[in-house]
Amino acid sequence: MKPTESSIFSRNTQFQPTVCVIAGDDAAPEVVHPTVEVLRSLAPAIHFAEALSGREAQARYGEMFPAVTKAAIDAADCTLFGASGGPSRPILWYLRWGKETFVNIRPERWYPGYSSPMLHPERIDYVIVRDNLEGTYPPREGDISELSSLASSTSWWQSPPVGKQGAYAVRVSTDEQLQRIAVAACQLALQRQSAGYLGRVTLGAKYSILPRTDGRFRSIVAETVRTYPTLSYQEFLIDDLARRMIALPETLDVVVLSNEHGDILADAASGSIGGLGLSPSACYGASYAYFEPVHGSAPDIAGKGIINPTATLLTGAMMLTYLGYIREGQRLELAVAAVYREGVVLPHDQGGRASTNEFVQAVKQRL
Ligand code: NAD
Ligand code: IPM
Ligand code: MN
Repeated sequence: MKPTESSIFSRNTQFQPTVCVIAGDDAAPEVVHPTVEVLRSLAPAIHFAEALSGREAQARYGEMFPAVTKAAIDAADCTLFGASGGPSRPILWYLRWGKETFVNIRPERWYPGYSSPMLHPERIDYVIVRDNLEGTYPPREGDISELSSLASSTSWWQSPPVGKQGAYAVRVSTDEQLQRIAVAACQLALQRQSAGYLGRVTLGAKYSILPRTDGRFRSIVAETVRTYPTLSYQEFLIDDLARRMIALPETLDVVVLSNEHGDILADAASGSIGGLGLSPSACYGASYAYFEPVHGSAPDIAGKGIINPTATLLTGAMMLTYLGYIREGQRLELAVAAVYREGVVLPHDQGGRASTNEFVQAVKQRL
């Protein structure tokens, strides 16, 4: 696939789309609103429709996830979401399971000027492909007493928890979901390969201990990659992969992970490039996509005007690409990179003194 061809990540034709904007909780609106201003200036044809969520929606409509917000998500071509600090979580669930956005793409790339704790951060430039729908999500938990008949009739446990108090969680992996994640990873690896990357898909999972679930994930991904002759495949147990992310990041290109492993390792990868303020993310389905940074609602810095907007700006660049505004997405990414390279206007988490708005103004000037 050439980068100009349509895929779930990008349309090849520009149109006049509507983007539903849901600012989210705590500090998230402080990065979403200026990002929308930047996107407006880059692509004036895009219509942005803001919908309320969380406490604001509760105050206005009496519910955290009112029908008008659901209708706004449905009516839009995609959604830009800040982050949920709890109150807007039902919206997040709808954006994932309601809209069947099955795969979560989390690029982890160091740019000169990012304040990384690594000695050679220039080696970090890979993408995490995360299961967005299954694994231990959505939560399916219960009391172990519900399992007692199963526990006594199978060899599931070395020592069945019969008569004991406790809880369980269920993990589900369907072949359909594993297959489409594997295909998405391969499509992304092909796209990256044509831009000079390794064309290498790496699976990380605990297939040694979980042969039925992670083992199935492993064989489906391995078999799928084999059908793409130009791509290569490698696999590591998830604990070893975590080490490789730190010790050998240059050996990684497209990294396929389960829902919970992807959640955890994306934050770790983000830490390796310089922090959560820097990592964008996008969730794609067959007919819908939504865009949110890796980070959460950063309640500890809400209202201070210092939250780093980089992650949300780069998330916005991914959204522009999805909507067919490929050149505009590149311009935004280059402008962000230029501000870091110059190293004069830097956000607080990157060792600078710039406010959120000062940083956004610097990016705007370099567009
Ligand atoms: P968090 O990502 O919000 O914050 C972790 C740390 O990173 C905090 O010190 C925070 O100040 C800092 N940080 C995060 N983003 C930053 C940015 N852009 N600039 C500068 N510093 C930044 O994670 P948390 O504190 O574990 O969770 C807070 C809330 O966010 C929880 O309710 C959690 O469930 C939620 N959350 C939501 C999403 C989402 O909606 N997709 C993602 C992660 C966490
Ligand atoms: C993320 C977040 C979410 C997740 C939470 C808020 C449910 O941590 O998007 O990374 O675990 O997927
Ligand atoms: Mn997370």
